[in-house]
Amino acid sequence: METATPDDPNLLDKVINLAKRRGFIFPSAEIYGGFRSTYDYGPLGVNMLRNVKQAWWTAMVQRRSDIVGIDAAILGPPAVWAASGHLETFTDPLVDCLQCKERWREDKIDGVCPNCGSTKFTEARAFNLMFKTQAGPVEGEGATAYLRPETAQGMFTNFNNVLAATRKKPPFGIAQIGKSFRNEITPQNFVFRTREFEQMEMEYFVPPADAPTWHQYWIKERYDWYIGLGLPSAKLRLYEHAREDLSHYSKGTTDVEFEFPWGFDELEGVANRGDYDLTQHSNASGVKLEFFDQTTNEHYTPYVIEPAAGATRAMMAFLLAAYCEDEIEGEVRTVLRLDWRLAPYQVAVLPLSKKPELEGVSQKVLGELQPYFMCDYDVTQSIGRRYRRQDEVGTPFCVTVDFDSLNDHSVTVRDRDTTSQTRVKIDDLLGELRTRTGQH
Ligand code: GAP
Repeated sequence: METATPDDPNLLDKVINLAKRRGFIFPSAEIYGGFRSTYDYGPLGVNMLRNVKQAWWTAMVQRRSDIVGIDAAILGPPAVWAASGHLETFTDPLVDCLQCKERWREDKIDGVCPNCGSTKFTEARAFNLMFKTQAGPVEGEGATAYLRPETAQGMFTNFNNVLAATRKKPPFGIAQIGKSFRNEITPQNFVFRTREFEQMEMEYFVPPADAPTWHQYWIKERYDWYIGLGLPSAKLRLYEHAREDLSHYSKGTTDVEFEFPWGFDELEGVANRGDYDLTQHSNASGVKLEFFDQTTNEHYTPYVIEPAAGATRAMMAFLLAAYCEDEIEGEVRTVLRLDWRLAPYQVAVLPLSKKPELEGVSQKVLGELQPYFMCDYDVTQSIGRRYRRQDEVGTPFCVTVDFDSLNDHSVTVRDRDTTSQTRVKIDDLLGELRTRTGQH
């Protein structure tokens, strides 16, 4: 029986607590009191975040012949951000509460100060969200640099380089995963909105006339990606932005939204950016960013369809959706029902006791599985406690080595979701686990 559903009013607190306690996500610089809604990913969190990014890379790059990847610099010169429109328009309306002096994003507070309830504020002023710094030891205009607020511009500025290096033709895409930085006025809700975060973005270059069709294609592809990794369809929806709410570059944007504990909110935006970016960078740099179509003998500027996701935000959604409390033999257990591809560990190898002969076999089993699966190894506490600890962090399979293993050369495979236990020959173990994870 499930006692905690995603509608549990304490779900967010439970997940934040689990994330800290079990090593998924720690408040950054905690020994100094934390630092402004920044977070560090711990031993389990780093595995899971890498898995989220790998699942995206597999779907968006590895399994496609029309998309290639890049990894561009985080620091950039003002010229890029002037051309992209970010210097001018990447702003949020900032107001100060006249009573308690707290600062807020005007569009997020409905005219009432969340701190003191006052309705009196300063006039809103445009606050640019980019982090500005300087490159090199000399201060001054020539040294100004910005931390990128999105990964996307690296794909536009490298458009000609990628075309020349790969000989791709529209429709084709350039994908990138990496850190982005925004000086958010009110970072909030754990890792949902932070100032430093990771994005997974893909710019798909298409003939202009085909842009609406590709836009619909990518909305569906991206929605299906979340479903395929275990987000329930009841917790996902598509939201089409009203024309007046579009970003400065967009001809149309549909968000994939997830039902977070505070309501439906953006997981990913899928935008039709038209030819805005390539045209802006062509005009500003003087370098033409076009495609020469040999069939028509014409140059044209492709349109761009952009699925833009957050890796850290997606990880939070996967954690929230996976969190569950059920009852096993009269005892409540916490279990993360994560897809095996996202789980921090896919397998835990558990010797029943610390006896050297059992540890010897267990280490051998571990060594056979480690090239294929991220494995944990745990010899502490009772086997029941160890199963619970693995359930709580979403490990799909526990492999228990007991005294019979010494004679029958078999181990017990326990399934996280059903708790069923099956005896499997050690020689067949890798094949069994690969079959259970659909790998052959
Ligand atoms: N290149 C387009 C772009 O950056 P965006 O909607 O501003 O579009 C894309 O960002 C995704 O990046 C969002 O859907 C979200 O998942 C993630 N994201 C944006 N700002 C974030 C923040 N402050 N903290 C965490 N994730 C963020």
